[in-house]
Amino acid sequence: MVQQLSGTTGERQGSLLPDLLPSATPRVGMPAPVDEAIADAVIEVRDLSLWYGRKQALADVSLRIPRHQVTALIGPSGCGKSTLLRCLDRMNDLIPGVRIEGQIEVDGVNIYGPGVDPVEVRRAVGMVFQKPNPFPKSIYENVAYGARINGYRGDMDELVEQALRQAALWDEVKDDLKKSGLALSGGQQQRLCIARAIAVNPDVVLMDEPCSALDPIATTRIEDLMRELAERYTIVIVTHNMQQAARVSDRCAYMLAGDDLVGRLVEYGRTEQIFRNPRDPRTDAYITGRFG
Ligand SMILES: Nc1ncnc2c1ncn2[C@@H]1O[C@H](COP(=O)(O)OP(=O)(O)OP(=O)(O)O)[C@@H](O)[C@H]1O
Ligand SMILES: [Mg+2]
Repeated sequence: MVQQLSGTTGERQGSLLPDLLPSATPRVGMPAPVDEAIADAVIEVRDLSLWYGRKQALADVSLRIPRHQVTALIGPSGCGKSTLLRCLDRMNDLIPGVRIEGQIEVDGVNIYGPGVDPVEVRRAVGMVFQKPNPFPKSIYENVAYGARINGYRGDMDELVEQALRQAALWDEVKDDLKKSGLALSGGQQQRLCIARAIAVNPDVVLMDEPCSALDPIATTRIEDLMRELAERYTIVIVTHNMQQAARVSDRCAYMLAGDDLVGRLVEYGRTEQIFRNPRDPRTDAYITGRFG
């Protein structure tokens, strides 16, 4: 984890500006370098391309996401971060006209393989959205919902308490479990959504800009929570906030798209390396705020 953004600029090379143009950067189109450092990958994305109708949104994305770490997807608006995230739990299946090529394995299972049930994929890979979206039900029922659908036979009270504790919300709501989830503050609602996601015991929790609708204090709580959750779950977040990426993530994937450039992975590596010594000048320009 990197606590500060200022890198040792001496490690960076060359002039940045000419490289902001995709046409001036020969590395576009090359697969991101394979990272040998990941011994235990939960998710393995191989040569993933995606089209919305005739428009291609992702091209040849390959990356391995390590277990029990926080991986951040970063890059300018429209580069395909949410699209890639939605591929990881087959949420894009719900969008008409989507076509996907390539492979995604979660714990060794090709989630787009024949006979794989997308509902089961979404149990193993949960999603937390940008805007907190509790169901119009009680706090308790919000958390119990997924477990009920899955036919959970254990002690539901215990499950709800455990999920709310893990989501750092229990102490604030334990006397009010019958209250509507919608009556909570924005930050509490987002922690409720996290509790709902983890109550079904997923392997992976995806979060698409989970703090962008929250104030700084609520944001700090969610960031702390992400670090805690990474001890039990694998977390993949999308964020536009570079400080947040630096604070919470172990690894960063920098994506880019342009007028004649389909969304790609430009650079992927340990967060410290990405922020201190990016290999690609476009990554450097983005994280230092000169581009995007
Ligand atoms: N449902 C859709 N139908 C058609 N095109 C889409 C759809 N969703 C996204 N796109 C297009 O795919 C590209 C990638 O979009 P995506 O939402 O993944 O980007 P993003 O990196 O998450 O952007 P942002 O940072 O603004 O959230 C964009 O060009 C977008 O317009
Ligand atoms: Mg997005």
